[in-house]
Amino acid sequence: MAAVLVTGGAGYIGSHAAKALRRAGREVVLYDDLSAGHRKAALGAPFVLGDIADVPRLRETLRRYRVEAVMHFAARLDVGESVRDPIGYYRNNVAGTLAVLEAMAAESVAAFVLSSTCAVYGEPERTPIDEEHPARPINAYGETKLAIERALPHVERAYGIRAVSLRYFNAAGADPDGELGEDHDPEIHLIPRAIEAISGGAPLQVFGSDYPTPDGTCLRDYIHVSDLADAHVAALDALERHGASATYNLGNGRPYSVLEVISSVEEVTGRTVPRQVAARRPGDPAVLCAANAKVKAALGWQPRLGDLRTIVETAWRWHRAHPGGFEGGSG
Ligand SMILES: NC(=O)c1ccc[n+]([C@@H]2O[C@H](COP(=O)([O-])OP(=O)(O)OC[C@H]3O[C@@H](n4cnc5c(N)ncnc54)[C@H](O)[C@@H]3O)[C@@H](O)[C@H]2O)c1
Repeated sequence: MAAVLVTGGAGYIGSHAAKALRRAGREVVLYDDLSAGHRKAALGAPFVLGDIADVPRLRETLRRYRVEAVMHFAARLDVGESVRDPIGYYRNNVAGTLAVLEAMAAESVAAFVLSSTCAVYGEPERTPIDEEHPARPINAYGETKLAIERALPHVERAYGIRAVSLRYFNAAGADPDGELGEDHDPEIHLIPRAIEAISGGAPLQVFGSDYPTPDGTCLRDYIHVSDLADAHVAALDALERHGASATYNLGNGRPYSVLEVISSVEEVTGRTVPRQVAARRPGDPAVLCAANAKVKAALGWQPRLGDLRTIVETAWRWHRAHPGGFEGGSG
């Protein structure tokens, strides 16, 4: 049976997408260099250890598993790191993705789903942000994703690869079955950081309390990682039914402030989150919220696990069962 190649499939979102694909009856093969992922996150699926820059290895994998579509999650994604190491980010996220597309073109694989990001929009001119909002990234990370989005129409014309670019807002939460969760080192996302803080880690830093928002902290759109995964399956189905290439936002369309997230973590866990207010981070807008009507209309997708409490509960359940992450004993 033909398979879907999931690059970055040992990472946070890729592992959830692979699980959603298998649940939908698809064969998968995960391709990851484990630079940030975890072998255990493969959950027993076929796994190839490799770098996306390695075109011969990718081609061999596409042939061996009779791959008919690629979901491409492999990337580096820390905005601050991208500012310090733009060459590394362009190498992995741009040159690496071009290598994946090159291997696909050579092996006649014609369906591609890209992990993109709301960082392509840059400083919002209006909120919520729809797909027509100007794309003017303000950091190297956002630029690398936009560079690939802009290459895709050319790639389609030349090699016939159709693509859906999914611009995620803040992925959060964990597999409701408790098999998968978020395990980054260092952790850069708010909910797992808050959980680290209550679990004896460093106090949570709240970056800025003087924003023009109701409680002074930033508002962000958190989308459950399993809802993201379902949207990938729907996007691929649409491509395979000969749907046109497209770009969609993926968010809940309802933002929460940093303090609302902290309160929710405290409610769910019954513990106080040790915290410190720190200065604003440069380039952090007050509000980031998705307009999500386009993806709902086109793919029939709806967030199922969108409320903040569910997001936090699933994250907490996983972290409590895996205090050291995937490699930490009980994982
Ligand atoms: N987490 C978010 O909130 C968020 C938001 C917007 C977009 N995204 C995008 O979603 C994708 C997945 O993010 P994530 O949070 O799951 O990150 P992650 O770090 O958990 O997963 C990325 C995976 O890719 C692998 N990888 C990285 N470089 C590779 C290479 N050169 N060759 C092979 N494998 C490589 C890593 O080992 C890791 O397993 C990324 O493309 C990211 O830009 C994430």
